[in-house]
Amino acid sequence: MDNVTNTDTKLTQIMALDEACFLPVFGKRVPLVVDHGKGMYLYGTDGKKYMDMIGGIAVNTLGHANSKLTRAISSQAKKVIHCCNYYYNEPQTMLAKKLTDMSFAEKAFFANSGAEANEGAIKLARGYWSKQGTPKPKIITAKMSFHGRTMATIAATGQEKFQTPFNPMVPGFEYVPYNDIEAIKAAADSETGAIMLELIQGESGVHPADFDYVQEVRKFCTANRILLIIDEVQTGVGRTGTFFAYEQYGIQPDIVTLAKGLAGGVPIGAVLANKAASTGFAPGDHGSTFGGNPLACAAALAVIEEIESKNLLGNSMNMGALLQKKLQNVAKKTKKISEVRGKGLLIGIELDSGSSAEVKMKLFEKGFLVSSIGSNVIRIAPPLIINRIHVYKFISALQDVLEGKE
Ligand SMILES: Cc1ncc(COP(=O)(O)O)c(C=O)c1O
Repeated sequence: MDNVTNTDTKLTQIMALDEACFLPVFGKRVPLVVDHGKGMYLYGTDGKKYMDMIGGIAVNTLGHANSKLTRAISSQAKKVIHCCNYYYNEPQTMLAKKLTDMSFAEKAFFANSGAEANEGAIKLARGYWSKQGTPKPKIITAKMSFHGRTMATIAATGQEKFQTPFNPMVPGFEYVPYNDIEAIKAAADSETGAIMLELIQGESGVHPADFDYVQEVRKFCTANRILLIIDEVQTGVGRTGTFFAYEQYGIQPDIVTLAKGLAGGVPIGAVLANKAASTGFAPGDHGSTFGGNPLACAAALAVIEEIESKNLLGNSMNMGALLQKKLQNVAKKTKKISEVRGKGLLIGIELDSGSSAEVKMKLFEKGFLVSSIGSNVIRIAPPLIINRIHVYKFISALQDVLEGKE
Protein backbone atom coordinates (compact mmCIF):
# COMPACT_ATOMS: atom_id res chain seq x y z
CA MET A 1 0.00 0.00 0.00
CA ASP A 2 2.86 2.31 0.98
CA ASN A 3 4.42 1.47 -2.31
CA VAL A 4 1.36 2.55 -4.23
CA THR A 5 1.15 5.82 -2.32
CA ASN A 6 4.86 6.54 -2.90
CA THR A 7 4.46 5.72 -6.51
CA ASP A 8 1.53 7.96 -7.14
CA THR A 9 3.25 10.72 -5.23
CA LYS A 10 6.39 10.40 -7.36
CA LEU A 11 4.42 10.52 -10.62
CA THR A 12 2.36 13.48 -9.44
CA GLN A 13 5.46 15.32 -8.20
CA ILE A 14 7.47 14.78 -11.35
CA MET A 15 4.55 15.72 -13.62
CA ALA A 16 3.97 18.95 -11.69
CA LEU A 17 7.68 19.85 -11.65
CA ASP A 18 8.03 19.06 -15.35
CA GLU A 19 5.11 21.34 -16.14
CA ALA A 20 6.65 24.08 -14.01
CA CYS A 21 10.27 23.82 -15.17
CA PHE A 22 10.55 22.10 -18.56
CA LEU A 23 9.86 23.84 -21.86
CA PRO A 24 6.56 22.38 -22.99
CA VAL A 25 7.84 20.83 -26.22
CA PHE A 26 6.76 17.29 -25.30
CA GLY A 27 3.33 18.35 -24.07
CA LYS A 28 1.67 15.99 -21.63
CA ARG A 29 3.69 12.81 -21.70
CA VAL A 30 2.71 9.21 -21.03
CA PRO A 31 2.30 9.01 -17.23
CA LEU A 32 5.39 6.93 -16.57
CA VAL A 33 8.47 7.96 -14.63
CA VAL A 34 11.15 5.59 -15.87
CA ASP A 35 13.27 4.19 -13.08
CA HIS A 36 15.40 1.55 -14.77
CA GLY A 37 15.43 -1.03 -17.52
CA LYS A 38 16.57 -4.59 -18.15
CA GLY A 39 16.59 -6.29 -21.53
CA MET A 40 13.29 -5.69 -23.32
CA TYR A 41 11.66 -4.08 -20.29
CA LEU A 42 11.49 -0.67 -18.66
CA TYR A 43 10.39 -0.34 -15.03
CA GLY A 44 8.56 2.69 -13.70
CA THR A 45 9.00 4.26 -10.28
CA ASP A 46 5.61 2.67 -9.64
CA GLY A 47 7.33 -0.73 -9.82
CA LYS A 48 5.39 -1.67 -12.97
CA LYS A 49 7.10 -3.43 -15.86
CA TYR A 50 6.64 -2.34 -19.48
CA MET A 51 7.70 -4.20 -22.60
CA ASP A 52 9.64 -1.61 -24.57
CA MET A 53 8.39 -1.92 -28.15
CA ILE A 54 9.69 1.54 -29.07
CA GLY A 55 13.25 1.22 -27.69
CA GLY A 56 13.77 4.93 -27.10
CA ILE A 57 12.59 5.48 -30.71
CA ALA A 58 15.06 3.11 -32.35
CA VAL A 59 17.86 3.94 -29.92
CA ASN A 60 18.16 1.08 -27.43
CA THR A 61 19.65 -1.36 -29.94
CA LEU A 62 20.70 -3.85 -27.25
CA GLY A 63 17.73 -3.27 -24.97
CA HIS A 64 18.37 -1.96 -21.48
CA ALA A 65 21.35 -2.55 -19.18
CA ASN A 66 23.15 -4.83 -21.63
CA SER A 67 26.18 -6.02 -19.67
CA LYS A 68 28.66 -5.68 -22.53
CA LEU A 69 27.57 -2.09 -23.16
CA THR A 70 27.49 -1.06 -19.50
CA ARG A 71 30.95 -2.62 -18.96
CA ALA A 72 32.35 -0.78 -21.98
CA ILE A 73 30.88 2.51 -20.75
CA SER A 74 32.06 2.10 -17.19
CA SER A 75 35.56 0.93 -18.07
CA GLN A 76 35.94 3.80 -20.55
CA ALA A 77 34.58 6.24 -17.95
CA LYS A 78 37.22 5.05 -15.49
CA LYS A 79 39.93 5.74 -18.08
CA VAL A 80 38.74 9.00 -19.66
CA ILE A 81 35.22 10.21 -20.51
CA HIS A 82 36.15 13.14 -22.66
CA CYS A 83 39.16 14.75 -24.19
CA CYS A 84 39.04 17.46 -26.79
CA ASN A 85 39.59 16.85 -30.45
CA TYR A 86 43.01 18.57 -30.25
CA TYR A 87 44.21 15.05 -29.45
CA TYR A 88 43.66 11.58 -30.85
CA ASN A 89 41.58 9.06 -28.93
CA GLU A 90 41.64 5.37 -29.71
CA PRO A 91 37.88 4.59 -29.52
CA GLN A 92 37.17 7.39 -32.02
CA THR A 93 39.77 6.15 -34.50
CA MET A 94 38.68 2.53 -34.08
CA LEU A 95 35.01 3.42 -34.58
CA ALA A 96 35.84 5.37 -37.74
CA LYS A 97 37.82 2.35 -38.97
CA LYS A 98 35.02 -0.08 -38.10
CA LEU A 99 32.28 1.96 -39.81
CA THR A 100 34.33 2.62 -42.92
CA ASP A 101 35.31 -1.07 -43.12
CA MET A 102 31.63 -2.02 -42.86
CA SER A 103 30.34 0.42 -45.47
CA PHE A 104 30.84 2.23 -48.76
CA ALA A 105 32.55 5.04 -46.88
CA GLU A 106 36.20 6.01 -46.69
CA LYS A 107 35.88 8.67 -43.98
CA ALA A 108 33.79 9.24 -40.87
CA PHE A 109 33.04 12.19 -38.61
CA PHE A 110 31.25 11.98 -35.26
CA ALA A 111 28.63 14.33 -33.85
CA ASN A 112 26.13 14.06 -30.99
CA SER A 113 22.73 13.54 -32.57
CA GLY A 114 20.91 12.82 -35.80
CA ALA A 115 20.21 16.45 -36.55
CA GLU A 116 23.83 17.33 -35.99
CA ALA A 117 24.98 14.48 -38.24
CA ASN A 118 22.63 15.79 -40.94
CA GLU A 119 23.95 19.32 -40.46
CA GLY A 120 27.39 17.85 -41.08
CA ALA A 121 26.19 16.06 -44.21
CA ILE A 122 24.55 19.21 -45.60
CA LYS A 123 27.69 21.25 -44.95
CA LEU A 124 29.88 18.51 -46.44
CA ALA A 125 27.85 18.45 -49.67
CA ARG A 126 27.92 22.23 -50.02
CA GLY A 127 31.61 22.25 -49.09
CA TYR A 128 32.31 19.67 -51.76
CA TRP A 129 30.84 21.77 -54.57
CA SER A 130 32.38 24.95 -53.29
CA LYS A 131 35.82 23.28 -53.27
CA GLN A 132 35.18 22.01 -56.79
CA GLY A 133 34.92 25.68 -57.77
CA THR A 134 31.30 25.28 -58.90
CA PRO A 135 29.08 26.02 -55.89
CA LYS A 136 25.81 24.06 -56.07
CA PRO A 137 23.94 24.91 -52.90
CA LYS A 138 20.56 23.40 -53.77
CA ILE A 139 19.57 20.20 -51.98
CA ILE A 140 16.47 18.25 -52.99
CA THR A 141 14.66 16.47 -50.16
CA ALA A 142 11.34 14.65 -49.96
CA LYS A 143 7.97 15.87 -48.82
CA MET A 144 7.00 14.31 -45.48
CA SER A 145 10.66 13.68 -44.67
CA PHE A 146 12.20 14.28 -41.28
CA HIS A 147 15.83 15.27 -40.83
CA GLY A 148 15.95 16.92 -37.41
CA ARG A 149 15.07 20.00 -35.37
CA THR A 150 17.98 22.38 -35.93
CA MET A 151 17.57 25.32 -38.32
CA ALA A 152 19.22 23.64 -41.32
CA THR A 153 17.55 20.30 -40.67
CA ILE A 154 14.04 21.74 -40.32
CA ALA A 155 14.75 23.49 -43.62
CA ALA A 156 15.70 20.08 -45.05
CA THR A 157 12.57 18.50 -43.57
CA GLY A 158 9.75 18.57 -46.11
CA GLN A 159 6.98 19.40 -43.64
CA GLU A 160 5.80 22.97 -43.17
CA LYS A 161 4.50 22.35 -39.66
CA PHE A 162 8.09 22.07 -38.38
CA GLN A 163 9.16 25.22 -40.23
CA THR A 164 6.48 27.92 -40.20
CA PRO A 165 6.89 29.24 -36.64
CA PHE A 166 10.63 29.51 -37.10
CA ASN A 167 10.92 31.32 -40.40
CA PRO A 168 13.02 32.45 -42.16
CA MET A 169 14.36 29.08 -43.20
CA VAL A 170 17.92 28.30 -44.24
CA PRO A 171 17.65 28.68 -48.03
CA GLY A 172 18.51 26.14 -50.71
CA PHE A 173 16.12 23.25 -50.11
CA GLU A 174 13.45 22.04 -52.53
CA TYR A 175 10.89 19.40 -51.67
CA VAL A 176 9.52 16.74 -53.99
CA PRO A 177 6.98 13.95 -53.51
CA TYR A 178 8.57 10.75 -52.15
CA ASN A 179 8.88 7.70 -54.39
CA ASP A 180 8.54 9.85 -57.51
CA ILE A 181 11.66 9.87 -59.69
CA GLU A 182 10.10 12.18 -62.26
CA ALA A 183 9.61 14.82 -59.56
CA ILE A 184 13.32 14.66 -58.76
CA LYS A 185 14.24 14.96 -62.43
CA ALA A 186 11.95 17.96 -62.79
CA ALA A 187 13.32 19.71 -59.69
CA ALA A 188 17.02 19.17 -60.38
CA ASP A 189 18.97 21.93 -62.12
CA SER A 190 22.53 23.17 -62.46
CA GLU A 191 22.44 24.45 -58.85
CA THR A 192 21.56 21.04 -57.42
CA GLY A 193 24.46 19.63 -55.43
CA ALA A 194 22.75 16.88 -53.46
CA ILE A 195 19.63 14.81 -52.98
CA MET A 196 18.92 13.82 -49.39
CA LEU A 197 16.51 10.99 -48.59
CA GLU A 198 15.42 8.57 -45.90
CA LEU A 199 14.93 4.99 -47.07
CA ILE A 200 12.00 4.67 -44.71
CA GLN A 201 10.24 7.87 -43.73
CA GLY A 202 9.96 6.98 -40.07
CA GLU A 203 8.56 10.10 -38.46
CA SER A 204 5.76 10.59 -40.95
CA GLY A 205 4.29 7.12 -40.54
CA VAL A 206 6.91 4.48 -41.57
CA HIS A 207 6.76 4.74 -45.36
CA PRO A 208 9.47 2.70 -47.12
CA ALA A 209 11.06 3.88 -50.36
CA ASP A 210 10.41 1.68 -53.40
CA PHE A 211 13.39 -0.37 -54.55
CA ASP A 212 13.16 0.89 -58.15
CA TYR A 213 12.87 4.50 -57.01
CA VAL A 214 16.07 4.32 -55.00
CA GLN A 215 17.89 2.63 -57.88
CA GLU A 216 16.69 5.34 -60.26
CA VAL A 217 17.69 8.11 -57.85
CA ARG A 218 21.18 6.63 -57.63
CA LYS A 219 21.46 6.43 -61.42
CA PHE A 220 20.19 9.99 -61.81
CA CYS A 221 22.68 11.31 -59.23
CA THR A 222 25.57 9.54 -60.92
CA ALA A 223 24.58 10.72 -64.38
CA ASN A 224 24.17 14.32 -63.24
CA ARG A 225 27.04 14.52 -60.74
CA ILE A 226 24.74 15.05 -57.77
CA LEU A 227 25.71 13.75 -54.32
CA LEU A 228 23.31 11.24 -52.78
CA ILE A 229 22.90 11.69 -49.03
CA ILE A 230 21.02 8.92 -47.26
CA ASP A 231 19.72 9.76 -43.79
CA GLU A 232 19.99 6.50 -41.86
CA VAL A 233 19.57 8.12 -38.47
CA GLN A 234 16.52 5.92 -37.82
CA THR A 235 17.06 3.05 -40.28
CA GLY A 236 20.75 2.40 -39.52
CA VAL A 237 22.50 0.06 -37.10
CA GLY A 238 20.54 -3.07 -37.93
CA ARG A 239 17.10 -1.56 -37.50
CA THR A 240 15.86 -2.84 -40.86
CA GLY A 241 17.66 -6.20 -40.79
CA THR A 242 20.93 -5.11 -42.41
CA PHE A 243 23.41 -2.80 -40.73
CA PHE A 244 22.53 -0.05 -43.22
CA ALA A 245 19.16 0.01 -44.96
CA TYR A 246 20.87 1.07 -48.23
CA GLU A 247 22.32 -2.45 -48.48
CA GLN A 248 18.80 -3.73 -49.23
CA TYR A 249 18.46 -1.27 -52.12
CA GLY A 250 21.60 -2.38 -53.94
CA ILE A 251 23.09 1.11 -54.03
CA GLN A 252 26.11 2.96 -52.69
CA PRO A 253 25.33 6.43 -51.38
CA ASP A 254 27.91 9.22 -51.32
CA ILE A 255 27.14 10.31 -47.77
CA VAL A 256 25.25 8.50 -44.99
CA THR A 257 24.25 9.76 -41.56
CA LEU A 258 23.71 7.60 -38.48
CA ALA A 259 22.74 8.37 -34.90
CA LYS A 260 19.97 6.90 -32.74
CA GLY A 261 20.95 3.23 -32.33
CA LEU A 262 24.69 3.59 -32.88
CA ALA A 263 25.80 3.78 -29.24
CA GLY A 264 22.74 2.05 -27.77
CA GLY A 265 21.56 5.17 -25.93
CA VAL A 266 24.73 7.19 -25.45
CA PRO A 267 24.35 10.32 -27.61
CA ILE A 268 26.25 10.07 -30.89
CA GLY A 269 25.86 10.95 -34.56
CA ALA A 270 27.99 9.95 -37.52
CA VAL A 271 28.63 11.27 -41.01
CA LEU A 272 30.09 8.70 -43.40
CA ALA A 273 31.39 9.79 -46.79
CA ASN A 274 33.05 8.30 -49.83
CA LYS A 275 36.42 9.58 -50.93
CA ALA A 276 35.14 12.24 -53.32
CA ALA A 277 32.48 13.65 -50.97
CA SER A 278 34.91 13.67 -48.06
CA THR A 279 36.96 16.35 -49.80
CA GLY A 280 34.15 18.78 -48.91
CA PHE A 281 35.82 19.41 -45.55
CA ALA A 282 39.32 20.76 -45.03
CA PRO A 283 40.90 21.39 -41.60
CA GLY A 284 38.86 24.00 -39.74
CA ASP A 285 35.69 23.56 -41.82
CA HIS A 286 33.75 21.54 -39.24
CA GLY A 287 34.08 20.22 -35.72
CA SER A 288 32.37 19.43 -32.43
CA THR A 289 33.37 19.66 -28.78
CA PHE A 290 31.69 16.46 -27.67
CA GLY A 291 31.47 14.69 -31.03
CA GLY A 292 33.53 11.51 -31.14
CA ASN A 293 34.46 11.55 -27.49
CA PRO A 294 35.95 8.35 -26.08
CA LEU A 295 32.88 7.43 -24.02
CA ALA A 296 30.38 7.59 -26.90
CA CYS A 297 32.76 5.85 -29.31
CA ALA A 298 33.57 3.05 -26.84
CA ALA A 299 29.82 2.53 -26.40
CA ALA A 300 29.29 2.40 -30.18
CA LEU A 301 32.11 -0.13 -30.59
CA ALA A 302 30.49 -2.33 -27.93
CA VAL A 303 27.10 -2.06 -29.67
CA ILE A 304 28.58 -3.13 -33.01
CA GLU A 305 30.50 -6.01 -31.41
CA GLU A 306 27.34 -7.23 -29.72
CA ILE A 307 25.36 -6.94 -32.98
CA GLU A 308 27.99 -9.06 -34.69
CA SER A 309 28.56 -11.66 -31.99
CA LYS A 310 24.85 -12.22 -31.30
CA ASN A 311 23.73 -12.08 -34.94
CA LEU A 312 21.30 -9.28 -34.16
CA LEU A 313 21.00 -8.39 -37.85
CA GLY A 314 19.55 -11.86 -38.49
CA ASN A 315 17.32 -11.45 -35.45
CA SER A 316 16.12 -8.06 -36.64
CA MET A 317 15.25 -9.53 -40.04
CA ASN A 318 13.57 -12.66 -38.59
CA MET A 319 11.66 -11.04 -35.74
CA GLY A 320 10.63 -8.22 -38.08
CA ALA A 321 9.21 -10.76 -40.53
CA LEU A 322 7.44 -12.61 -37.70
CA LEU A 323 5.96 -9.37 -36.36
CA GLN A 324 4.73 -8.37 -39.82
CA LYS A 325 3.16 -11.80 -40.37
CA LYS A 326 1.43 -11.81 -36.98
CA LEU A 327 0.29 -8.19 -37.47
CA GLN A 328 -1.26 -9.19 -40.81
CA ASN A 329 -3.17 -11.92 -38.94
CA VAL A 330 -4.38 -9.36 -36.38
CA ALA A 331 -5.44 -7.13 -39.27
CA LYS A 332 -7.50 -9.99 -40.77
CA LYS A 333 -9.06 -10.99 -37.46
CA THR A 334 -9.92 -7.56 -36.11
CA LYS A 335 -10.48 -5.59 -39.35
CA LYS A 336 -9.05 -2.65 -37.43
CA ILE A 337 -5.72 -2.36 -39.26
CA SER A 338 -5.59 -1.05 -42.82
CA GLU A 339 -1.87 -1.51 -43.47
CA VAL A 340 1.29 -2.92 -41.93
CA ARG A 341 4.51 -1.59 -43.43
CA GLY A 342 8.21 -1.27 -42.74
CA LYS A 343 11.37 -3.36 -42.79
CA GLY A 344 13.01 -5.40 -40.05
CA LEU A 345 12.19 -3.92 -36.68
CA LEU A 346 10.85 -0.59 -37.89
CA ILE A 347 7.16 -1.16 -38.41
CA GLY A 348 4.16 1.10 -38.87
CA ILE A 349 0.68 -0.21 -38.13
CA GLU A 350 -1.94 1.97 -39.79
CA LEU A 351 -5.31 1.78 -38.09
CA ASP A 352 -8.42 1.55 -40.19
CA SER A 353 -10.45 3.37 -37.61
CA GLY A 354 -9.90 4.68 -34.12
CA SER A 355 -7.13 6.83 -32.78
CA SER A 356 -3.54 5.66 -32.52
CA ALA A 357 -3.09 7.79 -29.38
CA GLU A 358 -5.90 5.83 -27.71
CA VAL A 359 -4.46 2.47 -28.77
CA LYS A 360 -1.07 3.59 -27.48
CA MET A 361 -2.55 4.44 -24.08
CA LYS A 362 -4.50 1.17 -23.88
CA LEU A 363 -1.31 -0.76 -24.68
CA PHE A 364 0.47 1.28 -22.01
CA GLU A 365 -2.15 0.26 -19.46
CA LYS A 366 -1.46 -3.36 -20.42
CA GLY A 367 2.31 -2.83 -19.98
CA PHE A 368 3.51 -2.19 -23.56
CA LEU A 369 5.25 0.93 -24.87
CA VAL A 370 4.74 2.03 -28.49
CA SER A 371 4.61 5.38 -30.27
CA SER A 372 1.71 6.90 -32.12
CA ILE A 373 2.35 8.99 -35.21
CA GLY A 374 -0.27 11.37 -36.53
CA SER A 375 -3.81 10.31 -35.83
CA ASN A 376 -3.74 6.71 -37.03
CA VAL A 377 -0.31 5.07 -37.09
CA ILE A 378 1.30 3.01 -34.34
CA ARG A 379 5.07 2.75 -34.73
CA ILE A 380 7.17 0.03 -33.17
CA ALA A 381 10.97 -0.03 -33.13
CA PRO A 382 11.90 -2.51 -30.40
CA PRO A 383 15.45 -3.42 -29.36
CA LEU A 384 17.19 -5.84 -31.73
CA ILE A 385 17.24 -8.44 -28.94
CA ILE A 386 13.48 -9.04 -29.12
CA ASN A 387 12.54 -12.74 -29.21
CA ARG A 388 9.49 -14.79 -30.22
CA ILE A 389 7.95 -14.73 -26.77
CA HIS A 390 8.01 -10.93 -26.72
CA VAL A 391 6.46 -10.90 -30.19
CA TYR A 392 3.62 -13.24 -29.15
CA LYS A 393 2.93 -11.27 -25.96
CA PHE A 394 2.80 -7.98 -27.85
CA ILE A 395 0.59 -9.36 -30.61
CA SER A 396 -1.84 -10.81 -28.11
CA ALA A 397 -2.02 -7.50 -26.20
CA LEU A 398 -2.56 -5.53 -29.41
CA GLN A 399 -5.29 -7.90 -30.53
CA ASP A 400 -7.05 -7.57 -27.16
CA VAL A 401 -6.84 -3.77 -27.35
CA LEU A 402 -8.21 -3.67 -30.88
CA GLU A 403 -11.02 -6.05 -29.91
CA GLY A 404 -11.83 -3.87 -26.90
CA LYS A 405 -10.98 -6.60 -24.35
CA GLU A 406 -9.89 -5.38 -20.94
C1 LIG B 1 15.49 10.14 -40.19
C2 LIG B 1 15.84 11.04 -39.05
N1 LIG B 1 16.76 11.98 -39.23
C3 LIG B 1 17.12 12.81 -38.22
C4 LIG B 1 16.53 12.74 -37.00
C5 LIG B 1 16.93 13.67 -35.91
O1 LIG B 1 17.69 12.98 -34.95
P1 LIG B 1 17.93 13.60 -33.52
O2 LIG B 1 16.63 13.65 -32.82
O3 LIG B 1 18.93 12.67 -32.88
O4 LIG B 1 18.51 14.94 -33.73
C6 LIG B 1 15.55 11.77 -36.77
C7 LIG B 1 14.86 11.68 -35.47
O5 LIG B 1 13.82 11.13 -35.32
C8 LIG B 1 15.19 10.90 -37.83
O6 LIG B 1 14.26 9.95 -37.67
